[in-house]
Amino acid sequence: MRIIFYDSKSYDKQSFDKALRHFSDISIEYMVADLDERTAVYSKEYDAVCAFVNSVIDADVLKILYDNGIRLVLMRCAGFNNVDVNEADRLGITVMRVPGYSPEAVAELAMGLALAAQRRIHKAYIKVRENNFSLQGLTGVTLHGKTAGIVGTGKIGAAMCRICRGFGMKVIAYDKYHNESLDFVEYVELDRLLSESDLISLHCPLDDTTYHLIDERTIDMMKNGVILVNTSRGAIVNTDALIKGIRDMKFHAVGLDVYEEESDYVFENLEDDILQHSITARLLSFPNVIVTSHQGFLTEEALDAISETTLKNAKAFISGDITGENVVK
Ligand code: NAI
Repeated sequence: MRIIFYDSKSYDKQSFDKALRHFSDISIEYMVADLDERTAVYSKEYDAVCAFVNSVIDADVLKILYDNGIRLVLMRCAGFNNVDVNEADRLGITVMRVPGYSPEAVAELAMGLALAAQRRIHKAYIKVRENNFSLQGLTGVTLHGKTAGIVGTGKIGAAMCRICRGFGMKVIAYDKYHNESLDFVEYVELDRLLSESDLISLHCPLDDTTYHLIDERTIDMMKNGVILVNTSRGAIVNTDALIKGIRDMKFHAVGLDVYEEESDYVFENLEDDILQHSITARLLSFPNVIVTSHQGFLTEEALDAISETTLKNAKAFISGDITGENVVK
C-alpha cells in the first residue's frame, strides 16, 4: 500500500519511519502541504491518504480523492469533525482514526494549561528573565478543595478527572454516558456544572450538539473567577463570547490549546508575519490567557502510538478487517 501523507512535520516523519520498519508492505510519501481541494490532486497513484486535524476533507475533496482511486482515509488523530463522514460513506471511502492514543498526554496538557494560566507562570517566566522579581500580578488560586467540572468523560476527560482528583479537587462531570470507572465523579447536568465549577475543562468532541457549547449564555452561568481550559476543538467555544467574558473579568484564567480559526496558524512558524486574524491577536493580548498551538497530542509516547495504530489501520484495511471504534461511521 502506498500512502500519501499530508501536512507532514519532522516529528511525524520520525515516528512513522520508525513504525514503518514493522510494516514492509506499506510505503509513505511525505507531503508538506495539508490536504485541501488544491492538493487532493496529488493523491493519484496512491492507495490511501493520511490526514490530520486541520485537513479539509469535505465533499469536494472526497470527490477528487475518489476519482483518483483513493478508498481509504487514515486520520492520524482521534477527532474527525473535519471529515464529511456521510459523503465518504456514500462514496465507499473508508475513514479510520486513532482513538485514545494517549489520553493522558492531552489531559496532562489541559492541567498544565490550567496551572500555568492561573498561577501566571507564563508571566513569571518572562519577568524573572528581565530581572523583575516582583510578585505583582502573579496571584493565583489553590486548586486543592475546589471543584473541577469536566465536560465529556471519554478517554481524555476520564484522565483529566483522575488528575483533578489527584490535586484534591471535588470532581463533577457532564456527559450523556456515565463512565462507570469514575466512581469518585458526580455526574450533574451541564447548568449545574457551569455554576458550581472553579475549573471547567472541555473534553467532548466537536459536533452539532457541542458547536459553541460555551457561548454568552453558558459563560454567564459560570462562577466569577472560573478557570476555563479547552484542549478539545476550537469551535466548542464561541470566541467572541469568550473575549467578551474575559473583558468582563469573568475568568481568573483561560487555557486554550485549540481555538476557532486556528487552522491558518497551528503547526506553522509565522514569526516574521503579521497575524491577520484579529480574534487570535486579541486572545494573545490578555495577561490571564495562555494559547498553545494544538499540541495536546505531542508527546513521544503519543506520537509512537499514533504511527503504530495508523499503520495497523492501513494493514486492517488491506486484510478487509475493518471493524471497531477505529472506523469512523
Ligand atoms: P472520547 O470519544 O473517548 O470521549 C468523548 C466523550 O464526550 C464521550 O464520553 C461522549 O459521550 C462525550 N460527549 C459527546 N457529546 C457530548 C456533549 N454534547 N456533552 C458532553 N459530553 C459529550 O474522545 P477522547 O479521546 O476523550 O477525545 C475527546 C476530544 O479531544 C476529541 O474529540 C478531540 O476533539 C480532542 N482531542 C484533542 C487533542 C489535542 O491535541 N488537543 C488530541 C486528541 C483529541
